[in-house]
Order: sequence, then structure tokens, then C-alpha cells
Amino acid sequence: MRQAGRYLPEYREIRAQADGFLDLCYTPDRAARVTLQPIERFRPDAAILFSDILVIPDAIGQEVGFVEGTGPVLTPVTSGADLAKFDPGKTLDHLAPVFETVSRVRAELPDDVALIGFAGAPWTVATYMVEGGSSRDFNAIKSWAVRERADFAAMMDILVASTTDYLVAQVEAGAQALQLFDTWAGAVPANDFDDWVISPTARIVAGVKARQPDVPIIGFARGIGDRLEGYIRGTGVDAVGLDASMTATEAAAKIQPICPVQGNLDPAYLMVGGEEMERAAREILDGLGKGPFVFNLAHGIHKDTPFSHVERLAEIVREWSPNS
Ligand code: CP3
Repeated sequence: MRQAGRYLPEYREIRAQADGFLDLCYTPDRAARVTLQPIERFRPDAAILFSDILVIPDAIGQEVGFVEGTGPVLTPVTSGADLAKFDPGKTLDHLAPVFETVSRVRAELPDDVALIGFAGAPWTVATYMVEGGSSRDFNAIKSWAVRERADFAAMMDILVASTTDYLVAQVEAGAQALQLFDTWAGAVPANDFDDWVISPTARIVAGVKARQPDVPIIGFARGIGDRLEGYIRGTGVDAVGLDASMTATEAAAKIQPICPVQGNLDPAYLMVGGEEMERAAREILDGLGKGPFVFNLAHGIHKDTPFSHVERLAEIVREWSPNS
């Protein structure tokens, strides 16, 4: 989950020099520096590329902006006719600066720190494209996807093609693992779950593996509860990120026997720090640390989190051992 971001003073400094958030994503020198800042400060075992899931709509031809205090703002897709504007063929040229960032970061990272690339999964990216930004109820996208099934499927095809190219190029530039964020998967109606979540993700996984067979892919489908096992089997991801709704004991019993897991400290504990954070972190480490496991947050870090808490958490994780 977020490593860089507004909770770090050194991030805010570079962010202020950039001409907006997307400019920061597309300026390799600055994007590489903000990718490396949390690595220097906290020494985790892996770095996540600094970019955003919304560079894909931007690359294929949608207007995307980030407004202070509001978040992402996109000119919304309202009909199938709008799809004619989108060209997945533009992805690689438009996102060339991101690949440059990946190469620079890989060159500067210590050999034993892995670099994780990422993209948004098609459903989650589509929610921003149709809602025009963040949403509470996803009414616009859900009603459009149900009413105009063929148009929605055509939009998913565009996103699958563009995202596959984007991820393969990240691996070619030096990313050693990939993560697909399906943050809003939990909003999908159960009867549409296969078509809107599993199938587009499975096509991306297969498309990436056809060209980069060895790269591990982590799927993060937030809020899907009992459908997680079906998601793992149906998509072919190598590992999954867990949201905060599952205890470590449950995940060790149900999910770890199928694949490695990543997670899942609720970012609220990181915000609070102290003994509560320590207890919650140890519970996760004791529950999952004996199997294939990546310690992480369950979701993105909050901007008001004191970085001293992050420092302490990194220490707790590093000092933990299966016999402690
Ligand atoms: O180290 C890192 O931070 C990794 C890079 C990263 C960002 N966004 C940078 C970012 C990653 C992996 C993401 C993923 C992302 N972006 C997701 C999926 C994961 C999740 O958080 O659920 C989603 C849904 C987005 C879309 C997005 N980007 C939103 C809704 C916002 C606004 C949020 C806000 O707090 O205003 C962003 C902006 C964004 N992306 C920031 C960062 C560091 C904050 C922007 C800023 O500096 O102004």
C-alpha cells in the first residue's frame, strides 16, 4: 500500500515543486525520488513504484485531473459513443516517463530490495472513468454497465489491452513483481462478479504471463469476503492482498494454503500507533508469519499518519521471528 505520500514531509516538498500530481507521475527524476524516499527512511524489503491507477485513462485519451481537497476529476464517460475517443495503442508512448522512472529506481535500489510495479484492475479504473471521480454508491457505472452491457464490455476490452501493455512494459523496465488494485471490487453485484472482476483480471494475468511468464502477480480485490478463494482460482494471480475484514487466523486457515498472502494491518492502527498498533501487528505476524507472507497494510496509509509510527512498525516487523 502507499509508501510515498502526503504523510512524509520530503514527499510534500517535491510534490510542491511539481505542476500537479500527474506531472509528478510523469517526471522520472521526481517520481524516482519519491519512490525511493520511504525506502531510505524505513528500509522495507520492497519498493512500490510511484504512479497512479488513473494514468491509464489519461494515457488512452480521457481528461484526468487531481484537484486539491477533492481527489481525481475525470470528464465522465456517459455513452458507448465516448469510447471512440479512447485508443489503447497510445498507452506505451504516453507512459514512457513511467517506464523511465522504473529503470531509474531499479538502478538505484539496493539489490535485495524488490521493485513492485502496479496498475488498477479494469473494474476499479472504470468506476472513476464513468463516475467522473470517486463515488459512494457507484450508481452511474453500475446502471450503465447493466443497461448497456455491450458498451461496458467494450470498455473493459480497452482497459484489459491497455493495462496488459502497461504492466509488461513495467517488467521490461525493471519491475520484479506486479500488483493489480481492485479497490472497489466489493461494490460489484454477485451475479456480475465473474464478468466485471474475475474475467478482466484473468485476461490481464494471462496476457502478462504470456510475455513475462516468471513475474509474480499480486491481486488486491478489496471487500469481496467469501469470494476471495474463487477470485484466486479464477484469475490465476500468484498471491493476494488482504483487506482488514479477515483475521490472521482465518487467512492462515483459508487462504494461505492456496497462495501467499499480503496484509493486512488496518491503517487506523498505524495512525494510532503505540501498544494498540504493536498488538495488532504482532497478531498478524504470529498468525501469518510462519507461511508465505508479505507484511503490509490492509489499505493505503492516511495522510495524517505520524511517520514515527511507520518507523516503529517497520522495526516491529523486522524484529519479529517465528519463535519470538
Ligand atoms: O507509494 C505510493 O504511494 C505508490 C503509488 C500509488 C499512488 N496511488 C500514489 C498516489 C498507488 C499504488 C496508488 C493506487 C491508487 N490510486 C488506488 C488503489 C489503491 C487504493 O488506495 O485504494 C486508487 C483507488 C487510486 C486513485 C487515487 N489516486 C485517488 C482516489 C487519489 C486521491 C486520494 C486523496 O487522498 O486525495 C489519488 C491520489 C494519489 N495517488 C496520492 C498518492 C500519493 C495523493 C495525491 C497527492 O499527493 O496530492
